[in-house]
Amino acid sequence: MSLKFNYNVPTKIVFGKGSLDKLAKLKLPGKKALIVTGGTSTTRLGYIDRIKAHLDAREIGYEVYSKVQPNPTNVNVDEGAEIIKNTGCDFIIGIGGGSSIDSAKAMSMVASNEGKCWDFFTGVSKSKNKAIPVVAIPTTAGTGTEADQWFVITNETLNQKIGWGGDKFFPALSIVDPDLMMSVPPKYTAYQGFDAMFHSIEGYIAKTANPVTDLYALKAIELIGSNLPEAVKNGGNEDARAAVAMASTLSGMVEAISSTTSEHAMEHSLSAFHPELIHGAGLIMISVAYHSHFAPAVPERYIAMAKALGNENASDPMDFVSALKKLIDDCGVSDLKMSDFGIKESDFDELAENAMATGFSMLKADRAALSKEDIIKIYSESYK
Ligand SMILES: [Fe+2]
Repeated sequence: MSLKFNYNVPTKIVFGKGSLDKLAKLKLPGKKALIVTGGTSTTRLGYIDRIKAHLDAREIGYEVYSKVQPNPTNVNVDEGAEIIKNTGCDFIIGIGGGSSIDSAKAMSMVASNEGKCWDFFTGVSKSKNKAIPVVAIPTTAGTGTEADQWFVITNETLNQKIGWGGDKFFPALSIVDPDLMMSVPPKYTAYQGFDAMFHSIEGYIAKTANPVTDLYALKAIELIGSNLPEAVKNGGNEDARAAVAMASTLSGMVEAISSTTSEHAMEHSLSAFHPELIHGAGLIMISVAYHSHFAPAVPERYIAMAKALGNENASDPMDFVSALKKLIDDCGVSDLKMSDFGIKESDFDELAENAMATGFSMLKADRAALSKEDIIKIYSESYK
């Protein structure tokens, strides 16, 4: 095998307990920030006030946009971009879950060019100009958006949830402080942790995997496997929280260089039609059927992932699926049901069409072609 790879993750990442307060000295990419957040927990827990205090002390101005929804919408992005244009903000701080950081990246694109958010997704508008720099401060461990160039935005009118991005949308600076994640409730800790793990699993089985992403992906899978159950059961365990946060950031780098696969395309379709379905929960629901389908396509990679999940004697690709089921059980999320979110079996045809149309770039990363019938079969096998 000839070794070849490209690697480009140009984000300065400051990782570790207490790192939020490094805002006191870290070089920031502008003089006036738009602080973008979902506005409930980040405000209640005092994170926004802490950021404001650091900015005040450094005489850096700011505005606040705090209406980002859990599945951020093109409307959120357009509102934030308007504030940037009207108030002279020259950088953006996205603080919160992936939704806030993804919105910050999308606002960076819209505010630095002409056009409304969705015009860029349909190709009517082009992102030609230099992006407005983004500082990412994740308060959840899952999306990895602090270490990649992608953002996912939902158009609720069209029932479309689409990933977008480009190298200029890597955050300029990401502050990953596990202290900010300590109060995430158990269920959400599990959903987000699985999202992180699926970024690495998919990046590892994708055609786009390379020797560097393989290292990061297997390490992230191992960290999630050995720490997520503890982070779910005992959210106050700082070491478990930090390990899961590190897995999320590593998985972001995997997404940056490799790719997610059709598993993410299939989930985006579910949560595009059912915005109340949390992304990580949607992934968990389809994951056992999905990986049972793909395990024979890349057996040696599934065996390596089973080993990363702690089965040192793994010899069969389906050993990975068994380990995945056990981890889902150990994290207390094996009772998720599509029917609880209003999804019907009669929807599968339309959901599969949507996954193929909006997620075509992820389907292209699959090592074995996935047909519409295959997608419907995976949805059906996952249904309960
Ligand atoms: Fe994801």
